[in-house]
Amino acid sequence: MNPLSATLSRVKPSPTIAVTTKAAEMRRAGHDVIGLGAGEPDFDTPENIRAAGIRAIEEGKTRYTPPDGIPELKEAICAKFKRDNGLDYVPAQVSVGTGGKQILYNALMATLNPGDEVIIPAPYWVSYPDMVLLAGGEPVVVPAGIETGFKLSAEALEAAITPRTRWFIFNSPSNPTGAGYTWDELKALTDVLMRHPHVWVMTDDMYEHLAYDDFKFCTPAQVEPGLYDRTLTCNGVSKAYAMTGWRIGYAAGPEVLIGGMRKIQSQSTSNPCTISQWAAIEALNGPQDFIAENNKVFVRRRDLVVEMLNAIEGVTCPVPEGAFYVYPSIAGLIGRTSEGGTRIDSDEAFATALLEETGVAVVFGAAFGLSPAFRVSYATSDAALKEACTRIQRFCAAMT
Ligand SMILES: Cc1ncc(COP(=O)(O)O)c(C=O)c1O
Repeated sequence: MNPLSATLSRVKPSPTIAVTTKAAEMRRAGHDVIGLGAGEPDFDTPENIRAAGIRAIEEGKTRYTPPDGIPELKEAICAKFKRDNGLDYVPAQVSVGTGGKQILYNALMATLNPGDEVIIPAPYWVSYPDMVLLAGGEPVVVPAGIETGFKLSAEALEAAITPRTRWFIFNSPSNPTGAGYTWDELKALTDVLMRHPHVWVMTDDMYEHLAYDDFKFCTPAQVEPGLYDRTLTCNGVSKAYAMTGWRIGYAAGPEVLIGGMRKIQSQSTSNPCTISQWAAIEALNGPQDFIAENNKVFVRRRDLVVEMLNAIEGVTCPVPEGAFYVYPSIAGLIGRTSEGGTRIDSDEAFATALLEETGVAVVFGAAFGLSPAFRVSYATSDAALKEACTRIQRFCAAMT
């Protein structure tokens, strides 16, 4: 008998974790592997934040907390939303979870009934469709390809909405493309949503602070205050503060929804790690200047990678507005054969052959719902990026 649930059979394991695991196995077997798959900054958590965590331990702040966060952290989150986004929230409208991932999952679990639809623009962060499936809903994937800068058009959003639509998931700057919506581009989407009062907005602002050049981040409830009462504004400390392992994410929105999310959390993880909550207060209230410093490094790496990838015949790599990913199209390589004899008939075949023949690990586009492409995370050293891109150039040049 299969011991696993029917719900679980609807879900696939995270493909990004699968790539990282395969790369690690090859490394252990002695291969020279460069991993461009990981979705986390290579910087250490800033010293003041680490010190706040240590202080919390030494002061005995090591016990259970309220399920969705300590009041001091909720205050810091309200201050952050006011300061950065011009949004007014009170602590009762705030939920803190074990990473942004748990926040999004709680919200979907708290709201979806069987058959409810969730609109997800593609390419998407790998977890959205599977979280929707786990929560009993139906992902409605809407392509937003390279020709529109990986941004969903108002017409495509309008066409995807049905009476069963429960949520629209929005992510800018995006994982996997780095694409960021301008105010006007987002306003075009919020105008559509204003005509459909039954659709709620789940905005995943995880990469808010990783915004480059003159791109200005904005979020739906800020662009259209009329959506405030049906928007869950999600964020976290993982990416901007190099705190992926501390596992703190948060959201603000209508109290009834926050209450539902609290109920789920109280029956699952009880509360996010106490020590990490105290460190997150320091992240949000402490100095923010290192973010601009880190961003200078990210811009340099982005430009390096974009230039080297665009030099490859058959590859097109747009310049993203934020995050630490690029998402080059390999439409011009489909149908060719690698030096090692693999026919490149899909982006999965491309990524597999690239890893096996050159030791460069990237994630194939099908994992993000839009092919043929691959995702590069440039959150690694300049030297590693240069070497990896040189290997990709050689790999592509040797194809026939
Ligand atoms: C778009 C997006 N949302 C949410 C998350 C989850 O972040 P966390 O590590 O805080 O759970 C990630 C992490 O990769 C992400 O890329």
